[in-house]
Amino acid sequence: MDNKRIKNFSKTKYSIDNPVMWHAEEQKRAKSEVYFLERLFKKYGSGKSVLDVGCGTGSHVNAFLKKNYAAFGVDINPEMIAFAKKKFGNQHFAVGDMKQIQLKNRFDAIICFRSVFVNNITHQEIMQTLNCFFQSLNKKGLVIIELFNPIVLIQKKKFNAKDVEVANGIKEIREEAVDERNQLLIGRRSYYKNNKLLEKWTITSRMFFPQELKFYLESAGFVFLGFYGGSWEGFSMKHTQLDDFRMLVVARKP
Ligand SMILES: C[S@@+](CC[C@H](N)C(=O)[O-])C[C@H]1O[C@@H](n2cnc3c(N)ncnc32)[C@H](O)[C@@H]1O
Repeated sequence: MDNKRIKNFSKTKYSIDNPVMWHAEEQKRAKSEVYFLERLFKKYGSGKSVLDVGCGTGSHVNAFLKKNYAAFGVDINPEMIAFAKKKFGNQHFAVGDMKQIQLKNRFDAIICFRSVFVNNITHQEIMQTLNCFFQSLNKKGLVIIELFNPIVLIQKKKFNAKDVEVANGIKEIREEAVDERNQLLIGRRSYYKNNKLLEKWTITSRMFFPQELKFYLESAGFVFLGFYGGSWEGFSMKHTQLDDFRMLVVARKP
């Protein structure tokens, strides 16, 4: 377990690592994403058990439970898991690192949504995580990874500072930079009230390009099935061009 990161998590008040802040955002999306995931399950064939890796506050797990799936969520941040357990039930969640998942059960599908997989920075971390996904799936199980599309970020030059009003007069300043050598996106956020700095934090994400993602999945033993493009509003079965900010890859364990 990465204790340094967990320590940082609990310090941040405004970041995506704060369960209360994140829950509102996650809840808005979970229902429509689960609707889309069910379309994918139907197209590619999947059973009724789902593991959500980097489950955050548990909204996707909850949406699947309501549809009678056996759903389970793991997240590296104990605060997220405590929040999810309190809201949706102890038995459905556990603290865990995607690089070290060891669960008793195997699943028909693994989902990994919103800036989770991009926490795998190095080649070794990526392969460790994909090997864990492979081990945690039943035969013919699906892995579905959703992440930002760096090609579109580059095309649209999304690397300038901009101000965003958050709430109650708190200003969020976003800056994105690229570490070209290590293929990383460095996101910096600062929060001000009346020009006084309240908090600032940095998040580092691996930029995954579609063909390397396919290569990594195949190297871990998966069969590549398809890519889907998505906007901030969501995904659809018809959107197969990778021309917007989000992308999603589907693969199968043989
Ligand atoms: C932006 S949130 C996404 C939460 C949720 N999947 C969603 O769609 O809203 C990213 C989550 O990834 C989790 N995370 C980061 N690194 C992780 C790791 N190594 N293993 C498991 N979870 C991780 C964080 O704790 C955080 O809850």
